[in-house]
Amino acid sequence: MISIALYNNKGGVGKTTSVINISQQLALKDKSVLVVDLDGQANCSRFFVDEPKAGLAEALIKHVVTPANAKCNTRYPNIDIITATAELNKILPEFGALDEETQFKQVEKIFSFSEMPWYGGKKYDYILIDMPPALNELTKAVLGACDIVFVPIELGLFSIQGIPTVTDIISRCGTKFGGCFANRFDKDNPSDVQLLEMLHGNLGKKAMNTVIPYSRVIKNSINFSVSASEYMNWTNASDSFKKLTDEILERIGE
Ligand SMILES: Nc1ncnc2c1ncn2[C@@H]1O[C@H](COP(=O)(O)OP(=O)(O)OP(=O)(O)O)[C@@H](O)[C@H]1O
Ligand SMILES: [Mg+2]
Repeated sequence: MISIALYNNKGGVGKTTSVINISQQLALKDKSVLVVDLDGQANCSRFFVDEPKAGLAEALIKHVVTPANAKCNTRYPNIDIITATAELNKILPEFGALDEETQFKQVEKIFSFSEMPWYGGKKYDYILIDMPPALNELTKAVLGACDIVFVPIELGLFSIQGIPTVTDIISRCGTKFGGCFANRFDKDNPSDVQLLEMLHGNLGKKAMNTVIPYSRVIKNSINFSVSASEYMNWTNASDSFKKLTDEILERIGE
């Protein structure tokens, strides 16, 4: 099992959209995925289930929560989710007050859910974590406990200038930075083309080859609660998430 977090402390860059589409692409490859929604906004949870339950918040603080009652099935047979609700934001002070070792243990407990036999007695191949646009004790503990972090960014000077802050957070948490990919790329905008070059110049191999285009297919698909490939699988948008998933697998050596 490999745990992959999508993180940027900047909001609205496409973390949730990417988690949704990558998990679907992995499922299409017949992989089993446990999505963990770590964001109290619960966008990812609401995409996958009608009524998210506060299992994650409880599991992080209390000891009584079992995998069976913390996770939910989704309409995709290969994807389960540990949902978030606004409850998650409420437990942050309590979680922050735990000593570091306990924080880490609690987060590990969530990850060890993936070792439990799931549907058909199989184990999850991947855990995909949708991180909030924040830096707090919980995000630090999760970044520290997961195997690898990928960073979506929206092309803009400030975003590119902000990347060292994000990579610094990741390395201080002791986790591998897998790479950074540009989202909402507009190939007809010379400024985007230039900024993409700047991204590659600044990050070298850590700048990913895959670029996710700005696309109505992506925007609308989320609004219809389907992935880009379910919405229009012949489009560039759908193809870009397939490429992103392949590149992520390549970068984690799978
Ligand atoms: N490539 C894209 N083309 C068009 N719209 C996009 C694209 N990527 C994301 N969006 C839209 O942008 C909005 C923000 O995306 P998303 O929620 O994935 O960002 P986020 O990083 O998870 O935000 P937050 O930090 O608030 O959790 C959503 O409405 C989403 O549908
Ligand atoms: Mg999000």
